[in-house]
Amino acid sequence: MAEEKKNPGDAEKITRAYLDSLLVEMRHIDSVDPSAKLELYGHSFDTPVMLAALSHLNKTHPEGLVEAARGMKAANAVMWCGMGSEEELEAICNTGARTIKIIKPYKDNKDIFKKIEHAEKTGCIAMGMDVDHQFGGMGSWYRCAGFEMAPKTLEDIKSFVKATKLPFIIKGVTSEVDARKCLDAGVQGIVVSHHHGMVPYPVPPLQVLPRIVKVINGKMPIFVDCSIDTGMDAFKAIALGAAAVSVGRAIMPSLKEEGAAGVTTYINQMTDTLRWAMAVTCSKDLKSIDPSVIWHAQDAKGGVQ
Ligand SMILES: Cc1cc2nc3c(=O)[nH]c(=O)nc-3n(C[C@H](O)[C@H](O)[C@H](O)COP(=O)(O)O)c2cc1C
Repeated sequence: MAEEKKNPGDAEKITRAYLDSLLVEMRHIDSVDPSAKLELYGHSFDTPVMLAALSHLNKTHPEGLVEAARGMKAANAVMWCGMGSEEELEAICNTGARTIKIIKPYKDNKDIFKKIEHAEKTGCIAMGMDVDHQFGGMGSWYRCAGFEMAPKTLEDIKSFVKATKLPFIIKGVTSEVDARKCLDAGVQGIVVSHHHGMVPYPVPPLQVLPRIVKVINGKMPIFVDCSIDTGMDAFKAIALGAAAVSVGRAIMPSLKEEGAAGVTTYINQMTDTLRWAMAVTCSKDLKSIDPSVIWHAQDAKGGVQ
């Protein structure tokens, strides 16, 4: 019997191609030495380049995410972490890295409430959920590291928001529809992300970002991940309305080869490139990057709509 062709739409290629199709117009007159400092949830950071919510990195480095957290602390950058044990989250927070915990959409909400309580007790600065990790692509709800996942309703999300005094973030928003639901639910941040391809042919995060920015209208920070590998990628995302970005797979070789120092160096290099792009576009800080410096390669005039 003939089998359906697997993985027809390559998320990585589609996302990279869109990022590479965005061009940057220069503005030199009146430019200043730019600041890439980020204020987030009452904390100050030296950069808007964050670590993506990663997990299961013990094959990359013996201390995995804990070592990565040391690197993020040294860069004074926001640490995120995904699925993992309570002990691991405690060790991450004990490095002093200010951390955002992303909880899986476990089938049983009781497990979620326990994780919310633990993240708050452990000293995370915020927490959230990757709501896109519910369906496995094999015709059934996802089983992740042996745990059953399930879709979450708007009412579920409202109950998670209510269960913590910390900001609650939804990761995996790639539509205006979900962005509106996040506003309804009272969440305090969204991550525009397709989770490195939760569906074939995903909309590239930066392509949908301007629409989501209009829906959110400044009411909460918008974060972006997926193929944000360089400072120029970060610049494009922030110019189009992201408050900050996350780097995931691109930083893993640095963690593997040089541990925490490699992570710090990678974040600092991305930040230097971002500041370079800010300097040549007359952007004095992250909030003052004018979206109209971004051109689409096919456009006759600047400003991606
Ligand atoms: C090894 C690995 C583990 C991940 N684990 C999680 C996770 O537990 N929770 C989550 O929300 N996202 C997880 N992600 C997805 C990332 O947070 C991110 O959305 C994705 O990798 C896209 O970013 P990138 O292109 O910079 O890698 C994981 C990604 C990788 C590569």
